[in-house]
Amino acid sequence: MEFVIEWYAGCCSMVNDKALKMRKLPTGITGLDEILLGGLLPGSSCLLRGGPGTGKTTIGVQFLAKGAKSGERVLFITLEENEAQIRKTAENLGLDVSGVSFLDLSPSSVFFTEAQSYDIFSTAEVEKEPITQRIVEEVGRIRPKRVFVDPLTQFRYLSADRFQFHRQVLSFLRFLTDSGATVMLTSESSPEAPDSDVQFLVHAVVQLESERGARSLSVIKYRNSDFFPGSHAYRLSERGAVVYPRLDPKKYGRPFETKVLSTGIREIDNLLGGGIESGTVSMISGPPGVGKTTLGMQMAAAGAARGEKTVVFSFEEKPEMILARCDSVNIRARYRADALSVHSIEPVSYMAEQFALLVRNMVEKEGVKLVMLDSARGYGIAMKNENPDAHLYMLCKYLRNMGVTVLLTVELNNITGNFKVTENGISYIADNIVFLRYLEMRGEMKKAIGVLKKRRSDFEKTLREFEITSGGLKIGEPLTKLRGILRGEPQWV
Ligand SMILES: Nc1ncnc2c1ncn2[C@@H]1O[C@H](COP(=O)(O)OP(=O)(O)OP(=O)(O)O)[C@@H](O)[C@H]1O
Ligand SMILES: [Mg+2]
Repeated sequence: MEFVIEWYAGCCSMVNDKALKMRKLPTGITGLDEILLGGLLPGSSCLLRGGPGTGKTTIGVQFLAKGAKSGERVLFITLEENEAQIRKTAENLGLDVSGVSFLDLSPSSVFFTEAQSYDIFSTAEVEKEPITQRIVEEVGRIRPKRVFVDPLTQFRYLSADRFQFHRQVLSFLRFLTDSGATVMLTSESSPEAPDSDVQFLVHAVVQLESERGARSLSVIKYRNSDFFPGSHAYRLSERGAVVYPRLDPKKYGRPFETKVLSTGIREIDNLLGGGIESGTVSMISGPPGVGKTTLGMQMAAAGAARGEKTVVFSFEEKPEMILARCDSVNIRARYRADALSVHSIEPVSYMAEQFALLVRNMVEKEGVKLVMLDSARGYGIAMKNENPDAHLYMLCKYLRNMGVTVLLTVELNNITGNFKVTENGISYIADNIVFLRYLEMRGEMKKAIGVLKKRRSDFEKTLREFEITSGGLKIGEPLTKLRGILRGEPQWV
């Protein structure tokens, strides 16, 4: 995965060039800069809001480390964790914070030894003055270009009431930005202590959420700037926060020539009116074990044999198992190992945005022309996201815009009986639909293949017998004399 991040950082240098023109400050997190269209506006304030463990401090440290790396003066005002703890966190992330100044306002051990004297005053009255003074002094001394305040909501306990808090935060932010700083702040919003008031006071708000291991991030507002709307994925890695903007197919496209691609088997080509067009999405649907993966591999191997870079993502089987089956049925999937690669993806291992980035890398950097996803249901299980079908749709649309041919296998629950194309209604993704069926003929189990839909050309409307043999896929003559094939109970007429 790390190489993808490197590549991705390279991709986004274009964003950074543009940012330079707009003079935005990069946050130090590539994906976040893409969402913020370059980063933060100089002299603005950005609120990171999210529950515990959502990575607010990590993002802040990355923001400061980025500034320090480019020789800016940067200041970390901490009100919760102490300086030593933060330095340790940064060290674990491999971030250099040697150039970061700290103003440690965390409750220190002194707080506890002097605690008895606090009894007679409210926190607000006792602490506010020295804290304000220390901030003013420190900012005056350092004149930072970037300031990170973590967490801002701590000030709430230093204010007598909401009204005073509002005024204090406003003047605090004014003071910082007037002195030339770009400010990032954090808040831990909860139903007991809502932070809606702070959201009005800042220029930008970034919301961080975490649900069942899937982390998502969205920009709620960004005054004076456009941003990439919607929910994006992020992950807290050993190298800090990594943000994966959602895949918006509209943003991608390139001119490509539409070619009719042979499946490598004449009869299947005939069924398809010649073959499948490049840059289309083909669905191979059928019940368990009927040969969906095998048929897909036949088509993938045909692509590879023409020298087209082809990648197969298997969400169900190990690559070796697929390749061994190909060997046993004379599909030459290993013949062009330089052009065809098979990858297995484990269940719940990716966020859809992260997987999309992996695919983008292969398409945009490695020149992949054909992608097979085996299967649609497996994809849904591999992604941590709530609505995988929507992400699958976006991914297919992206690939189509890029002129990449997509093969998608779709499994049906029932072996025979009423004809269906998919279980979850994702057939709207497909330009072409090929289906495989079991049928019982004279007491024998047979298989049939047919085409249900073809957007770009005519196709054969009759079904043919489909057989997997050690010599390869065998397709029979059109089954014109049979009725009731789709019900699985054909009868001769
Ligand atoms: N060496 C072989 N000779 C003949 N037929 C074979 C051979 N190897 C596998 N098959 C056939 O291939 C079928 C499995 O093919 P495949 O895995 O492509 O089906 P699938 O539709 O993708 O299955 P699933 O629903 O499990 O994903 C088996 O049911 C078997 O009939
Ligand atoms: Mg399969």
